[in-house]
Amino acid sequence: MKTLIIYYSYTGNNKLLAEKVRETLDADIFQLEDVKPRTMKSIVLDMLFQKKPRIKAMPENISSYELVVFMGPIWMFHLPSPLRSCMHKIKRDIKRYAFISVSGGALGPNTGIAKELVKRLGKKLAVAVDFNIAQFCTVSFEATTKDTGEYKLSDHPEDLQRLTDAASHVLMNIRA
Ligand SMILES: Cc1cc2nc3c(=O)[nH]c(=O)nc-3n(C[C@H](O)[C@H](O)[C@H](O)COP(=O)(O)O)c2cc1C
Repeated sequence: MKTLIIYYSYTGNNKLLAEKVRETLDADIFQLEDVKPRTMKSIVLDMLFQKKPRIKAMPENISSYELVVFMGPIWMFHLPSPLRSCMHKIKRDIKRYAFISVSGGALGPNTGIAKELVKRLGKKLAVAVDFNIAQFCTVSFEATTKDTGEYKLSDHPEDLQRLTDAASHVLMNIRA
């Protein structure tokens, strides 16, 4: 099944996972990049005011893919604004889609993501998986409660492999 992974990553976690999953699934991959340098302040402003920031380039030929997999962080319990910009632009051409995130999870589960995806894309969601660092990764007890933002998947190859296996397994199942 022809698959495209579209990802956004600010601190690198979702980039690493997206690249590994791409290898496993033999998918095409597209990175969304901000036009304006991203800062913590611009994250908060984008999320508070529901902005759709400008992206350097958008993926093309979306309708030639049978499955589009969005990957990215979760910001303030919602889809990150750069992913929202892309979804808004390409939603009409998407046949089937899934969402995978390496999020933080320090403030508890991100319960609204599946609903937000369906609302933004206007079609049924194949699967959404939120691997939050607090639950799925090798962090110390203190880190699970407050410092998930400092966790770098690049420092934990064993976590990266586990998340790659789990994400690939889920996606292979829906492609079968
Ligand atoms: C401003 C901000 C808000 C965040 N809000 C959430 C949140 O609501 N839920 C969550 O699980 N993680 C949250 N996170 C944590 C990120 O989702 C997490 O660090 C993720 O792994 C970063 O992915 P990246 O390295 O690909 O950018 C937030 C991070 C930032 C910087």
